[in-house]
Amino acid sequence: MDSVTETSAFDWLDDKAAFRQRMGLQRHLRPRQQNTPFIDVMGNDYLGLSRHPDVCDTAIRAVHKWGAGATGSRLVSGTTELHQELEGALAQFHGAEAALVFSSGYTANLGAVTALCGPDTLVIADRHNHASLVDAARLTAAEVKIVNHNAIDEVHNVLAHNTRTRALVVTESIFSVDGDAAPLRELHDVTRQFGAALIIDDAHGFGVVGDRAQGLVSECGLANAPDVVTTVTLSKAFGSQGGAVLGSQRVIDHLINGARSFLYDTGLAPAAAGAARGALQVITSEPQRAARVRAIANTFAQRFRDAGMQVHQPAGAVVSITAPSPSAAVEWASSCRAEGVAVGCFRPPSVPDRISRLRLTARADLTDVDVDRVIEVIIQTRPFAEEDE
Ligand SMILES: Cc1ncc(COP(=O)(O)O)c(C=O)c1O
Repeated sequence: MDSVTETSAFDWLDDKAAFRQRMGLQRHLRPRQQNTPFIDVMGNDYLGLSRHPDVCDTAIRAVHKWGAGATGSRLVSGTTELHQELEGALAQFHGAEAALVFSSGYTANLGAVTALCGPDTLVIADRHNHASLVDAARLTAAEVKIVNHNAIDEVHNVLAHNTRTRALVVTESIFSVDGDAAPLRELHDVTRQFGAALIIDDAHGFGVVGDRAQGLVSECGLANAPDVVTTVTLSKAFGSQGGAVLGSQRVIDHLINGARSFLYDTGLAPAAAGAARGALQVITSEPQRAARVRAIANTFAQRFRDAGMQVHQPAGAVVSITAPSPSAAVEWASSCRAEGVAVGCFRPPSVPDRISRLRLTARADLTDVDVDRVIEVIIQTRPFAEEDE
């Protein structure tokens, strides 16, 4: 009789786990408490709207009216008046002709990028792009070229040598890891020169940047440009969940017919759509919330720089501080938490350049005392470079 070796098809996972442990890359899920006993500069609730009474009320009213789920794909049974009203309001706020909401910012990016290119397209993507844009590019049949971060000359050069019939440049407006801005107007000058399309993910600008908090794309005067498509999330400044694509009516019509993450996904849940609608009302009536976020982010950056840390100029709410190594970043974040300040810790593979960081997010509802305490704790607990990455 043949001897049967007792192995499992998943034994290799143990080696992977051991490797992560050795490299200080192990991740753990930590339940969020209802009332956090620390100052939270880790989440993406930039304007403090996720628990705003008006936002929660519109979500609850939407559930009572439309139910807990959307009941189906938007094309089958999932489109309600609520979705249409939200799309109209988002488009108007941004300054675009039309909008289409998705179940997340991630699926909005997958849908926009994959539906707007094909085998005849060259996709040019910034090296620091968010994972959802990276995955979107991987899902296409297009030729994909990754360019260095914010390297306009490189974009120009790649477009100048394009052998495909169409080209699509994909960038974030404010980069999720470092919080710095893309030079959107210059980038648009280049894409326009070559007749290329430009997709801009304004996840971190929408609701935060501009006098009316209308986002960086709108602030740069590109919201209505016929060759620009903007994607956003409703899960950061809007305090809800979901995503949207904003652009011309013909682009939106095309996505309704061709974006697979729209077609084959259940529509945005009524609660999320309702919350986003309520959030938009608060954002437009209280622009001082976004202004406070920007002011706090600038204070953080200035004070950390004064203390000799390496910090990018924040274009929105995100402030990122370079750490000496992945393990130093983890220890730094856990020392902050022990002192009552919860910060994000970004390490490979979540960082585009293998440089580990602490990542802080400014929030409108932080008090001045909170802000001072965050600065004090980050500076007091900072590690000094002892090992290289
Ligand atoms: C730049 C960017 N795009 C897209 C997303 C995905 O958005 P969502 O969380 O709504 O799926 C994120 C979220 O972290 C992001 O930072």
